[in-house]
Amino acid sequence: MTQHERVQSLMPPMAMHDKSTPCVVKGEGCYLYTEDGRKILDFASGIATNALGHCHPKVVAAAEKQLHTLVHAGHNILYYEPYTTLAEQLIEKTGGKYKLYFSNSGAEANEGAMKLAKYATQRPVIISMKNAFHGRTMATATITTSNAAYRKNYEPMMPSVYFAEYPYLFRTPYQMEDGKCPKEYFTQFYDLFKKIVEPSMVAAIIMEPIQGEGGYVVPPLEWLKYVRALCDQHRILLIFDEIQSGFGRTGNLYAWQTLGIEPDIFTSAKAIGGGLPLSAVFGKSEIMDKWGKGAHGGTFGGNPVSCAAALAVMEELFEGGVLENCRKMGEIVRTRMHDLQQKYSVIGDVRGMGLMNAMEFVKPEDNAPNGALCSAVITEALKRDLLLLSCGADKNNIRLIPPLNVDEGTLDAAFQIIDESIAAALKS
Ligand SMILES: Cc1ncc(COP(=O)(O)O)c(C=O)c1O
Repeated sequence: MTQHERVQSLMPPMAMHDKSTPCVVKGEGCYLYTEDGRKILDFASGIATNALGHCHPKVVAAAEKQLHTLVHAGHNILYYEPYTTLAEQLIEKTGGKYKLYFSNSGAEANEGAMKLAKYATQRPVIISMKNAFHGRTMATATITTSNAAYRKNYEPMMPSVYFAEYPYLFRTPYQMEDGKCPKEYFTQFYDLFKKIVEPSMVAAIIMEPIQGEGGYVVPPLEWLKYVRALCDQHRILLIFDEIQSGFGRTGNLYAWQTLGIEPDIFTSAKAIGGGLPLSAVFGKSEIMDKWGKGAHGGTFGGNPVSCAAALAVMEELFEGGVLENCRKMGEIVRTRMHDLQQKYSVIGDVRGMGLMNAMEFVKPEDNAPNGALCSAVITEALKRDLLLLSCGADKNNIRLIPPLNVDEGTLDAAFQIIDESIAAALKS
């Protein structure tokens, strides 16, 4: 039996993939190796998780050393060094105004962020954004709107959640003047607060500073600044979900540092543990200080091995020049994407920051999302041993998320394959 057939007999359909899905046995740097001897260039990075590629020697060495020392202690009952040291370094690198709490997954961190906001403000309402992805637990699925499939059959969900429009300017239904963010994205809050929920009821506005699953949507800075000011005006906490955009992906430790907008609370997961499960909720100290004993917790959060691996990732980001590399390579990626856009009219938009970039496939005649073509390009790329991922509700964007230490030669190799794959997909 193939692995595909074995998994089919063991797991529900939602855990299944296509028959052609590679079965990987090893990862090294930017490459994955399959059981049938293929070497695949990985531009998915475990969905933006392997910040330093596969099995980075420093991450492996740090985790291995920790495995021989202390595997689990339980932060609910004990203290241990990598946990405390990692917290110190993260707080220092984010400006010293925050405190943090470690968990395991992105969804768990977002649950924690919402619980913290409700706890600290004693207000019931959460406002989330349309087209957002925040996770798959009940509360995080409630604030997720990037695809109805994530919510189907789970109603009723968490109460007192309302939604605002996130400016996806490439697909805006509103009038854009001089490329500026349409006024409707600002005025919507007046309507929301006047007609649906008074701002004094709102604990938090939660958003991804750059939407991930929703299509790698970069919002206009003036809108982010406006939401920040609105939150200040009404004492609403601004939560940034940095699960995908964080830990170096945009060229700084967190996207809010790249954008220059400080959230009250933010969450981190995916890349933080260098491939091991780890997440964190950060909150301004005065907010965190309200989170009393027993108000939140968990068994595995801040596992020593994950924390040791995270410390090795931090060292590479800051002292190994990886953040700088990410900024440089990001410029190259955007240049190459623009070149492809010039060549192929089916690429309607290219966008991104650092090494969080995407190309949007369209039908040139009316700009409609072209998910079928995007999927064909991904299939052609995999035939040529390049792993790519889509995003967006119509699955018509290719996200390019290589490891942050990728070099120019590897980018060139990937773009050569992408070019050939688009040509092949268009032919078929
Ligand atoms: C922005 C964002 N938030 C939350 C999550 C959920 O993280 P996890 O799958 O670790 O629960 C993801 C995962 O893709 C994400 O991209």
